[in-house]
Amino acid sequence: MAAHIERVYLDHAATTPPDPAVVEAMLPYLTTVWHNPSSIYVEAQAARAAIDRARATVARLLGANEGEIIFTSGGSESDNLALRGVVAASTRRGRHVITSTIEHHAVLDTIEQMEHDGTAEITRVAPEPDGRVAPEAIEAAVRDDTVLVSVMHANNEVGAVSDIAEIARRVKARNPRTMVHTDAVQSAAHLGVHVDRFGVDLLTLTGHKMYGPRGAGVLYVRSGTPLQPQILGGGQEERRRAGTEDTAAIVGLARAMELTWERREADVAHERALQERLIEGLPRRIPMLAITGPTDPTHRLPGNVSCCVGYVEGESILLALDLAGIAASSGSACTTGSVEPSHVLVGMGVPEDLARGSLRFTLGRGNTEADVDRLLEALPPIVQRLRALSPIPATEPAEAWRPWLA
Ligand SMILES: Cc1ncc(COP(=O)(O)O)c(C=O)c1O
Repeated sequence: MAAHIERVYLDHAATTPPDPAVVEAMLPYLTTVWHNPSSIYVEAQAARAAIDRARATVARLLGANEGEIIFTSGGSESDNLALRGVVAASTRRGRHVITSTIEHHAVLDTIEQMEHDGTAEITRVAPEPDGRVAPEAIEAAVRDDTVLVSVMHANNEVGAVSDIAEIARRVKARNPRTMVHTDAVQSAAHLGVHVDRFGVDLLTLTGHKMYGPRGAGVLYVRSGTPLQPQILGGGQEERRRAGTEDTAAIVGLARAMELTWERREADVAHERALQERLIEGLPRRIPMLAITGPTDPTHRLPGNVSCCVGYVEGESILLALDLAGIAASSGSACTTGSVEPSHVLVGMGVPEDLARGSLRFTLGRGNTEADVDRLLEALPPIVQRLRALSPIPATEPAEAWRPWLA
């Protein structure tokens, strides 16, 4: 029998393990109170009451009113609803939308389809080389007919945190009728997320990046924001999102948020210490490795360590790491069999050949120093072995890589 290898999970930006307290809170709604919350008998009323309590919790934590919270199936649906919903409800005012080139595909692909259909005209703003979106660049793109600006709070690949409050302030100063949406899926577990402090009209969250369940998300919609529902068929969520509610998932999401908000300070301190160890250790042990994303820790998600390894495909490293018991991810979107370099890294200006060696390690509550050290020990020989197999001699960095290797 193969020897048992202790697994190390370094992919919290992909999804987080559900907190046992979350699972416990959900269980009654899978076992005894499983009834349709829209029905009229007592069991259904208990399910309805649980959803009401969850809505009150989510609203309180975000600084919102209960009527401003729409429960969805997750981040992708919330992003889709925000973009399509606002634009469809604003046609008399215009159809211009501004976004950044490094959004999650839930935003980018939706917007691309809207552009293709002719329902929206898009301005895409490139980020700074560290992955942050400059408020001035967004401001400069705002027009009289701009109906929506959508910029993510923190990027899922490089962890760059943009100043959403400043972006919203500048957009509103230019055109008070432009709605501002932010995808806060990645930041909510780590940073304060508050709708008034951000000054946004719409905000996306998902349960499974906050130690909650898959299949539950939130779209915050400020009162008075134009929004056309995109899933039709029932009166749920005040007619803004049809479909029988998943009571257990909604309860789990709210519980996960509560715990996350309570634990944030401790979680962040823990993740920052591990992050520092990794950011410091990787380039020292591996030549021609570039840490990507902000160098200033206050501009970077505490759990994120992203890098590019010259002369190696990120995917090959990930397979070798998996065999060594370490689960991580790369920034690459693996489509149609060919590995395209990440749109985020390319958008930041990272040379494509360097971007092909991208890796993303995202730390969480359960990680330890020993996990980081396992990675720091496992990675150098893997890189060395793969470089030795490379047809290109991996002796010197390419000229274009130099600014990124600093
Ligand atoms: C920034 C961002 N937005 C949206 C999503 C999609 O969320 P969900 O998986 O809940 O649909 C993700 C998930 O990876 C994400 O990282």
